Amino acid sequence: MLHILQLTDLHLSSKAPQDPFDLNPSTCLTHVLKNSLASTPEATLMLLTGDLVHDDVLAYQQVIDNFNHVSIPILHVSGNHDLEHERQKQLCHFPFLSQKVWRNEHWQVIMVKSSIDGIVNGEISAQEMAFVTQQLKACPQLFTLIATHHHPLDVGSAWLDKIGITNGHDFIETLSIFPKVKGITFGHVHQAVDQEIDGIRFLGCPSTNRQFKPNSDEFSLDDRPLAYRQIHLHDDGSIESHVVWVELEKKQCKNIVFFP
Ligand SMILES: [Fe+2]
Ligand SMILES: [Fe+2]
Repeated sequence: MLHILQLTDLHLSSKAPQDPFDLNPSTCLTHVLKNSLASTPEATLMLLTGDLVHDDVLAYQQVIDNFNHVSIPILHVSGNHDLEHERQKQLCHFPFLSQKVWRNEHWQVIMVKSSIDGIVNGEISAQEMAFVTQQLKACPQLFTLIATHHHPLDVGSAWLDKIGITNGHDFIETLSIFPKVKGITFGHVHQAVDQEIDGIRFLGCPSTNRQFKPNSDEFSLDDRPLAYRQIHLHDDGSIESHVVWVELEKKQCKNIVFFP
């Protein structure tokens, strides 16, 4: 069994929050990370699925500072608010891995880049599609979990469904050819998603700070707390997964003011 922790959409920034309703992303991350490691001591792998920083090259140092005590390897991928080149350059020493694939005797986890610098919606490039196909063909005996930033299918919010993976249908169709692909997990939607279509589990992970209200036609913040996802990959190919919501206590908030 492979136990995984997924944290996503950290949106770290070197700038202080501009308005009193802003949660401090670093405070939130510290709290979520501590909670996730304490509650899942069996975890052997961590996934960071994008938007690690919020358009801020200086904030990668905050990513390093927050995770440098973690003793399990971390696979990571860019989101639309990351700077691809800087992420790769700065997050290259343990616990951060530069590789995009992790394998054990039953499973492989493949990080797939869906972001294009400067563009909010996602797209799987021909090069990335070829990379995934190559990995799947190389180890056809392994069950596979794909991790990416953008959502490859509609999640039921009109504004978010305009900024998912534009060629998500082709992406899913390509993956469907491989029966051992069991799950696709993603960030970007800042809410929990869990549905199964044709044997593939689609998992959306909420953010380590602000969440978006599900089923909204327009941008709308939710008052749900911080979160992370536990993913347990069983040797028989089944996936067990839970979102864990983490409340910040008042005394930990300091200058943080909660939404009304
Ligand atoms: Fe995000
Ligand atoms: Fe995003």
